[in-house]
Amino acid sequence: MYLDYKVGKVLISEEVLQDKIKEIAADIRRDYAGEELVCICVLKGASVFFTDLLREIGSDVDVRMEFLAISSYGLSTKSSGVVKIQQDISTNINGKNVLIIEDIIDTGASLAYLKNLFNTRTPKNFGICVLLDKKECRTTPVEIKYTGFEIPNKFVVGFGLDFAGKFRHLKSVHTAIPVE
Ligand code: IMP
Ligand code: MG
Repeated sequence: MYLDYKVGKVLISEEVLQDKIKEIAADIRRDYAGEELVCICVLKGASVFFTDLLREIGSDVDVRMEFLAISSYGLSTKSSGVVKIQQDISTNINGKNVLIIEDIIDTGASLAYLKNLFNTRTPKNFGICVLLDKKECRTTPVEIKYTGFEIPNKFVVGFGLDFAGKFRHLKSVHTAIPVE
């Protein structure tokens, strides 16, 4: 087991990220024009993607921001598979359009858990938007409405994604290199 990681090469550059965010925002605008949409940011990882994406959507959609915190990997780079809500959203989503916005889907455990939880709250409809998808790691299938990029099974940091709380502030997505 590695103790630490350092920042490696750029996997997805700032420009490529921002172009993709504009594309996803255009899709969301097309799908929800004239409607209210409760956008739920899964803290902390999705925070950078969330604020960039929502600002690209613009005024055609009545966007509301909500924030949710779930348990993280801690000091590991492997998902524990156990998901816990640390901070819930502050609004009633009964009868509303809901879109969960997440940085990355790996095993799918976190998003499958959130999907089940939110469906018990009877939204009008429920969708998931992820920036990155490590498709080959999926153990719990979950339907994704909007995906930015499919990436290989490598640990990545930057643009919201962290290792042990570090590197979230970087403008690009980088691979992370283990330090032995
Ligand atoms: P899942 O429940 O296995 O799908 O894990 C999803 C969560 O794992 C994401 O919200 C991230 O917080 C974290 N995660 C998965 N892969 C990475 C990575 O490569 N870098 C940083 N965090 C990751
Ligand atoms: Mg996350």
